[in-house]
Amino acid sequence: MKTQLENIYKNAADDLEKASSINDIEEIRAKYLSRKGEFNEIKKGLKDLSDEDKRTVGALANEITRKLESALKNKYDEFYKKELNEKLEKERLDVTLPGKFTPQGHIHPLTSTTNEIVSIFQNLGFSVVPDEHSPEVETEYYNFDMLNVPKDHPARDMQDTFYTKVASNVLLRSQTSGAQIHAMEGKNPPIRVVSPGRVYRNENINARKNNFFHQIEGLYVDKDITFGDLKGVLNEFIRLYFGSSRPTRFRSSFFPFTEPSAEIDVQCIMCDGKGCRTCSGTGWLEILGAGMVDPNVLRGVGIDPDVYSGFAFGMGVERLAMLKYAIDDIRLFFNNDVRFLEQF
Ligand code: PHE
Repeated sequence: MKTQLENIYKNAADDLEKASSINDIEEIRAKYLSRKGEFNEIKKGLKDLSDEDKRTVGALANEITRKLESALKNKYDEFYKKELNEKLEKERLDVTLPGKFTPQGHIHPLTSTTNEIVSIFQNLGFSVVPDEHSPEVETEYYNFDMLNVPKDHPARDMQDTFYTKVASNVLLRSQTSGAQIHAMEGKNPPIRVVSPGRVYRNENINARKNNFFHQIEGLYVDKDITFGDLKGVLNEFIRLYFGSSRPTRFRSSFFPFTEPSAEIDVQCIMCDGKGCRTCSGTGWLEILGAGMVDPNVLRGVGIDPDVYSGFAFGMGVERLAMLKYAIDDIRLFFNNDVRFLEQF
């Protein structure tokens, strides 16, 4: 048995000599030292020996096992270091290289402008409808019919409004004014809401106009609402939004759903009113349309125009942002050029 043990040790030592990786060492360990390894097989035979032999052979077996274990460990350490060094060499890192720069995102200037405008109106007592994003597809019913826009009104023309193929009466809304109807339907005054959203028009695109843009609709219906309230609220809005006095002008206008109607222009800051490409040489940019809600519109949603009156407005978010930050071209909002977006 002694010679058997010594032979096994010799074989193990030979194997170890030939080993060239940590993997080889694990194999050798399994072959000789595991529960099913060769040493264990031998040790099972110990029980048949005399007490005296058990002691000497047992001691030898233990000694050889220890020797083999320590040889394995030495080799293991050697290979471990070697393989680690090779790996470090191969995956060498230059810690002096500059790190990767992950730029921080920004809130889009139209989003922040919308938020700012909405919060001014919230402070004036208006609430926001609907709770979620308002749908950008509407039916003619909300976009035109209920807003007193006659069937033959040029605004319905294919040139202005994008119709869909879903059905002949389904369109991309050309204005947020449909929100007025949604806000009044089935509700009783007082109604005091703003409704932001995207609208679409088949426009020739230039520095002032894009074929989609953003509006914020406003509506205030109650007893005794007058044109004076409209002027007061909108002037207060302009004062709060621009923070400083800005030359503005109030022009009479026409909308089928308001009577009387007005538009507000703000002096162009790209040219200080002298006239440029952004304001098309006029020195002014229109920021909103407004007026007293037409009695026909109130009647349509079941509100008695002899008891209630109201005003409505729709403002252009891009125009308001352009006039605050001196952005001379509406297309800049939609190119997503980070050199532009980064400035906000
Ligand atoms: N909807 C009109 C437009 O898009 C603006 C407007 C809204 C006018 C509300 C009057 C009242 O031009």
